[in-house]
This record gives sequence, structure tokens and C-alpha cells, in this order.
Amino acid sequence: MRALVLAGGSGTRLRPFSYSMPKQLIPIANTPVLVHVLRSIRELGVSEAGVVVGNRGPEIEAVLGDGSRFDLRITYIPQDAPLGLAHTVSIARDFLGDDDFVMYLGDNMLPDGVADIAGEFTMHRPDAQVVVHQVADPRSFGVAELGPDGEVLRLVEKPAEPRSDLALLGVYFFTPAIHRAVAAIKPSARGELEITDAVQWLLTSGADVRASRYDGYWKDTGRAEDVLECNSHFLGGLRGRVDGDVDPGSILLGQVVVEAGARVLRSRIEGPTIIGAGTVVEDSQVGPYTSIGRDCLVSGSRLERSIVLNQATVTGVHSLRDSLIGRGASVGTTGSGAGHCLVVGDHTRVEVAA
Ligand code: G1P
Repeated sequence: MRALVLAGGSGTRLRPFSYSMPKQLIPIANTPVLVHVLRSIRELGVSEAGVVVGNRGPEIEAVLGDGSRFDLRITYIPQDAPLGLAHTVSIARDFLGDDDFVMYLGDNMLPDGVADIAGEFTMHRPDAQVVVHQVADPRSFGVAELGPDGEVLRLVEKPAEPRSDLALLGVYFFTPAIHRAVAAIKPSARGELEITDAVQWLLTSGADVRASRYDGYWKDTGRAEDVLECNSHFLGGLRGRVDGDVDPGSILLGQVVVEAGARVLRSRIEGPTIIGAGTVVEDSQVGPYTSIGRDCLVSGSRLERSIVLNQATVTGVHSLRDSLIGRGASVGTTGSGAGHCLVVGDHTRVEVAA
């Protein structure tokens, strides 16, 4: 089985971060989402992965390289415009050949793994196998309607009035039967060739389409709040490790990772929390559920349930929570009590205490 990993989306829901980095490289527990995805694919025994990239291809390639770091061989497949998930299958035709494949969206996190579902697919080898998960509001997903014995009755992309609460996750297993379906469908109202429509086409033409339930943790990391939530979930499984320096005036509580070259001075770090390589934390309280990237400075501050990306600075801020701070950003205080002073980028969200 091969893998087709989709990393071409533009990430409009993750602005302003997606202005300066591909959304698939947003870190969860200091590791890019796409790296988590590739590890999950490797667990399925796959060794050949095609990664579909858009105009952010070079940045993605710089992080993933040829894949050998993940014990995978990566082929990059450029997509000129975001014309839909099914469109990526057609442009990957040469790479896929006549092999079965798993298609995995590069912003989907399924830390509990899909090895059991991949095993079911390999054993029964239906034409297509989708993965479903119960959600409170399925309107922003593909939705599957199943019959009493779990058979797939219908699949609809983002229905206004969903007939079930089972969302399609961003992992699909296909045989080469999908290629005929992809060639047959027309673009949807949003102008994209939807994979949901291609699988529905297979169903209508009498093909064997199955659905497996995934009951583990799942997040489509499309929005900032999803990224933060997913980060907290992931940190929940963290095992503490100190490779950097922690001075005697500091306390570490619970599971805390202090990466090599990081320094913690006169601070209290509450786990689960990661302090990235080369970062300095001084006179601060950090955590729980916080990831601080590389080469940051956190000084005289208090922050929890937050993500700070590489080279950012947080100084003198006493109550940061549920925050996502971009690369090289600086958050500080004005020194006078006269209001807030902000230099805020496009499509940024700032919430200050009332
Ligand atoms: C895509 C699929 C949708 C699926 C979702 C999972 O949506 O079209 O069927 O439920 O991924 O993350 P998109 O992220 O393109 O809106």
C-alpha cells in the first residue's frame, strides 16, 4: 500500500499563521502536524508516500526532506491550484500506479492510530473504505449515512441538514477503483472535485464501500482553537525529560520536557509542558499544557495552555492563556498604565482583559 498525503491547502481558517507558514507545519507538542501524520502512516507499514504540495512546497520539503528521517520515501507532487481532494488523486496517478493507497489529509491528527482500520481494509479489500467519527456538529464535514448493519447508504459533503452525526475523517483507503470515480465526477458548488462525491459515485455504481468507526481522539487542526485543543491533548501523554539546564531556584512539576540548550531560571514550570531547545525561561510561571518552541525568551511572565512558536518573546505579561503566538512575535508590556499598545498583523485576533 502507498500513501497520498495532502499538504496543499491554503489554510484560510488558520490566518494569520498560514500567511507565513503552511498550516500543515504548525507544531503540536513542538512537532509539525505533518510529521505526526507521516509517523502515523509509517505505523501502517507504508514505505512510499506521495506528498501533494501547493505554492508552499519548498517550505514543506525543507522540513520533510526525502523522508528517510521517517523511514519513508517521499515523492513530492505539485498541485497548481487547490482544486479539491479528488483532484489530487488524479494528479498523483503516475505515483499511485495500480496500487492500493491510504489518502491522509496533512492537517488531521489521529494520535490513537488507524492501524486496525488499515488491517480491516487489507483483509476485506473493499473498493473504498472511509473512516467516520461521531461529532456534535457535522455540517462542516463530509457526512456518512449508515444502514442498520453499518453499511454505507450515502455520503454528502458539508450538508446544511445532516442526516447523521458521523463525519468523514481525513483518512481514506482506496483500491484503484477510485480512479474511474475521480474521472467521472464534476466540481462541487465550491468549485472543487470532492473526494466525498467520488466515493458516492462508487456507491451509486454498485461498488463495495465500507465505513469504519474511529473512536479515538481526532482533530482537524484547521483553526487556532483546534490547534490549542489538540496540543493540550497531545501534551497529556508527555513524558518528562530534562536535557537543558534548570537552576536550583526553579521548580518543575509533573511531566516537563526541557530540551537541550534550554535554560530555566527562577521559574515554576507546571507539566505537561515543553520548553524548546535554546529557549530561556526566567522569573516566570509556565504551564500546564504549554509548548514553547526553539530560541524563545519568556521573562517575568505567566502563561498556560498556550503555544509559542520559535524565536518569539514574551516579557512581563502576567496572565496569558489559550494563546497561540507566532514565530518571532513579541508580546510585552508598555511600562505605563496608559492602555494597550498593539502592532497586529492581518486577520489576527487579540483579546485583552476588559
Ligand atoms: C475535508 C473533506 C471532508 C472531511 C474533512 C475532514 O474537508 O472534504 O469531507 O470531513 O476534510 O477533515 P475540508 O477540510 O476540505 O473542508
